[in-house]
Amino acid sequence: MNRTLIHNARIVDGPAPRLGYILVEDTRIALKASGPAPQSLIDSTSEAIDAREAFLLPGLVDTHVHFREPGLEHKGDIRTESLAAAAGGVTQVFDMPNTVPATTDLSALAAKTQAAREKGAYVRYTPLMGIVPGGTAQLASLAPGALPAVKLFLGTSTGNMRSPEGRELEELFRICAALALPIIVHAEDNAIIARNMDAALARYGTPEAIPVSQHHHIRSREACLRASAAAVELAERFGTRLHLAHVTTADEVHQLLCEGPTKGKLITAETTPLYLDPALADENMRTALHKVNPAIKTPADAQALREALATGAIDTIATDHAPHLLHEKTQPGMKAASGAPSVQFALPLMLTYLDMWTIVRKMTLGPADIFGITACRLSPGDPADLTLLREVPEYRITADLVLSRCAWTPFENRLIHHRVERTWVAGTTVYADGQPSATVAL
Ligand code: DOR
Ligand code: ZN
Repeated sequence: MNRTLIHNARIVDGPAPRLGYILVEDTRIALKASGPAPQSLIDSTSEAIDAREAFLLPGLVDTHVHFREPGLEHKGDIRTESLAAAAGGVTQVFDMPNTVPATTDLSALAAKTQAAREKGAYVRYTPLMGIVPGGTAQLASLAPGALPAVKLFLGTSTGNMRSPEGRELEELFRICAALALPIIVHAEDNAIIARNMDAALARYGTPEAIPVSQHHHIRSREACLRASAAAVELAERFGTRLHLAHVTTADEVHQLLCEGPTKGKLITAETTPLYLDPALADENMRTALHKVNPAIKTPADAQALREALATGAIDTIATDHAPHLLHEKTQPGMKAASGAPSVQFALPLMLTYLDMWTIVRKMTLGPADIFGITACRLSPGDPADLTLLREVPEYRITADLVLSRCAWTPFENRLIHHRVERTWVAGTTVYADGQPSATVAL
């Protein structure tokens, strides 16, 4: 048996981390205790790691990434992007279906899992299936619990995945309710966006000529609220588990979401580091690199989102890691691709404005409660998915640190003061000191 001891660590299993140690036996946590580790234990293990008072966190679960494989590997692939995730302290991801081809049936889903297995991923990898017109019927034969969730683009975005409409949309919500299968919804109203786009075109002439600063007026707060409200109405009508992806506005928080614990909620919600960030909420700080769908809104929205994490109105944080090449991002005006890579620096960046326990809860317990997955809680018996995070002198995020294939970050030049030193999945080191280690047995 392989026994690894991580001692002299600040264990983040609650709001006040305590110095202590964790013993990992093979793939699981065998023991957790406070105080110094006994010498006899140190001597009896295969490896004893003195954490020198670094924080030991449960590995984070990121239920919203775009790893781009298959078909868009020039932007990133499962291997490159999962390494960026491991370097960000993430040990488990849900990969979105807007690849080429899109993941819209069970065989495409199985092919993605197989690709991850064959090529190697540095984190636990679960692809999600997207539901497009005609895609609902296949769900009827699913066993309950067969999938953690399905994704619906109620509002098209990168990849142009369309949503079923009318009767089929209702049928989707009905079947998912019967299966207790959560629907993760990208909610932006296409009609409102099209109307705003027409107005911008009338004013500026061509998509290239529309300044990127107009993006959040085109993909407006009304578009978000309208689509989110429609999704909530359907979920309530059919009793369907609905998870609103990447919520951006105070309006959605205050009009549609419920405060309190995640367990037992019909409607849950996620937001992302880009929308929470106090600096990026200022539109003068944003460039085409920060063009994402939904658009980043206002400082008041960002503040409402941060408050919603505290009240429980927002249940999870996910990164929406969505790499594009720099030249795709720097196209003029509305031609710039939407999406940004964020998984690698989300944790240290969020630690500049959120407390560690909030982040850990929203990226472990929240997803576990919603999607019925196992997340490490640093308790004996849990899978040893772990992150060692050190507080260090302030340093700058620079492009040369980026492990994603696209080699840029929307957080360039931001000052942070934490560094992920090492990440384990199922007791195996997947990342250490800036370098890949082993891939995960999936
Ligand atoms: O900005 C975005 N980028 N929003 C999405 O919904 C998709 C994503 C991507 O895949 O690039
Ligand atoms: Zn996304």
